[in-house]
Amino acid sequence: MHIIKTKAWQLGEKSVTDEKIYNERRRLMKMAAIAGAGAMVPFSLKASATYVPRALSFAPNKAYRDLSPTEYEKITTYNNFYEFSLSKEGPSKLAHTLIPEPWTIEISGEVEKPMTVDVAQILAKYPLEERIYRFRCVEGWSMVVPWIGFELSCLLKKAGLTSQSKFVQFQTKYDPQMFPEQKSEGFFGNIPFPYVEGLRIDEAMHPLTLLSVGLYGKTLPKQNGAPIRLVVPWKYGFKSIKSITKIHVSASMTRSTWNEVNPREYGFYSNVNPDVDHPRWSQAKERPLGEFFKQKTQHFNGYADEVSHLYTGMDLRKHF
Ligand code: MTE
Repeated sequence: MHIIKTKAWQLGEKSVTDEKIYNERRRLMKMAAIAGAGAMVPFSLKASATYVPRALSFAPNKAYRDLSPTEYEKITTYNNFYEFSLSKEGPSKLAHTLIPEPWTIEISGEVEKPMTVDVAQILAKYPLEERIYRFRCVEGWSMVVPWIGFELSCLLKKAGLTSQSKFVQFQTKYDPQMFPEQKSEGFFGNIPFPYVEGLRIDEAMHPLTLLSVGLYGKTLPKQNGAPIRLVVPWKYGFKSIKSITKIHVSASMTRSTWNEVNPREYGFYSNVNPDVDHPRWSQAKERPLGEFFKQKTQHFNGYADEVSHLYTGMDLRKHF
């Protein structure tokens, strides 16, 4: 992101939201879920290079279904995933090397029960729900994504927090066979891999914070961070780390990749804020993917009522 480059959105794209098709699909999936008496499609335990997103059973969360999702095609072909490519179009073409099954997440550090959990087990144990969230990239584009997932707090509660559980760090799997750009430390050594991100514990435990395993009713496409990624809707998109394999709880503030690469431009908090510009561009407006006209950026990306209390008394210009 710190590399100066013409953004693909500057080329101008057509408006493509296709709500009718999506609503019909959701109606059918709801019927299928009822017919299947809640039986969830399990993740295969076999390694599958031929992985393709497949239908999940989930319950739509009524509180988060008012927005019109951006078209599936856009969400899955305009990506940031630097382990594969610097371009937005690269990840959807190059992420075939990622093998998302089987996959485990290690939970370590300041927890009562350090553990390694299989994503297949997670899917079997946690009821999945759909939440349609706004997603705002620090680069100035935005979209609306119908995520399928569960609250991160469910997993952290299972591991058991202690009085020393103050911050949480997430790490993307390190495997240059699967993520080829990890070999070259990403584009001329600019990005230290593995990609890491962090949250304060109250942010991690907030009910809006999801671990997502799917979108548009199906398991995650590889380029969107299969098999499991973070979604923190009130923060800039780079906090939503993909293909997570480690979660480490600690007493002190954790590392985060972009803050380390360029602390002047990317803060640890990275809450969406129209009043605090990026040093190289304004954050007052954003361009929804596929639309020509920009719209106003919302404080905390539209989730201020739910999250602004987390930052009471903090100078958000300083802690950007
Ligand atoms: N996670 C990893 N491991 N690697 C990345 O390059 N890019 C981040 C975030 N998570 C990134 C990542 C950035 S900059 C953004 S905007 C979002 O993923 C993009 O998510 P999307 O491609 O699903 O839209």
